[in-house]
Amino acid sequence: MSSSRQPFSASDLDRIRAATFVRRVELHNQLGSTNDLALQRAARDTLETPWLVLAERQTRGRGRGSNRWWSAEGSLTFSLVLDTSPSGQAPGPRPQVALAAGLAVCLAIDRQLPDHRPALKWPNDVYLQGRKVCGILIEVPHGKRSRMVIGVGVNVNNSFARAPVEQRRIAVSMRDVTHRWQPRTEVLIELLRQLESLLGTLQSDLPRMIQRCRDYCMLQGKIVQCHSGGRQVQGRCRGMDHDGALVLETDAGVHRCVSGECSLADP
Ligand code: BTN
Repeated sequence: MSSSRQPFSASDLDRIRAATFVRRVELHNQLGSTNDLALQRAARDTLETPWLVLAERQTRGRGRGSNRWWSAEGSLTFSLVLDTSPSGQAPGPRPQVALAAGLAVCLAIDRQLPDHRPALKWPNDVYLQGRKVCGILIEVPHGKRSRMVIGVGVNVNNSFARAPVEQRRIAVSMRDVTHRWQPRTEVLIELLRQLESLLGTLQSDLPRMIQRCRDYCMLQGKIVQCHSGGRQVQGRCRGMDHDGALVLETDAGVHRCVSGECSLADP
């Protein structure tokens, strides 16, 4: 069996449940989108959370906006349903939970690849060697505002080495940078543990969590375009504010991006 084709086993699922805060795991060989199924699950009143939907392959993976998420064999694609009520796992404001998810991926990759420093592109894209290694799509189910779905795609063993040149320029996998197969279960377990811990820190010590995000921020000092609420603002990134907002110094003064998406003006 080729090393990118090592599927999750029943014992991997047992380990995920035993080692993390996840209560239930469902594994699918193929799904359209793990987020689509997780949004359906999230509508059930009796769902035990955190509920994990894991897929070996997605055929219609979704990215933010109208983007698609290409998840070939060997990538890690999952969606986690969390309870956002005051007694749930993710009671914090959505933009901060989004940051916690991105930081959790950075910390998990850092643990797995100590020689390759990941970087966080606010709010929650993760980059390795200047190319995107992980994307996160957070959604709230219609009519169920007490739940949240965090969809995560990490390029673990899906190599871009033979991908078209435009893709190779922007995307990379953990395997591409190390030239070694990487254990997806370990990456997933570490990511979930970090996420649980950060969701706690977000409640108990927000400045500490924001400081850790700043440590990984790849936009600091760069000219950045931020799209938020139908508006586009360009300015030099002056880091993250106390609440996680991205601070841009623009011609018209200081602008705070609380949520949205951004790109480097001159990548
Ligand atoms: C982005 O960078 O635009 C976000 C990409 C999110 C991809 C993940 S893969 C698992 C989950 N299911 C989806 O359909 N999308 C998310």
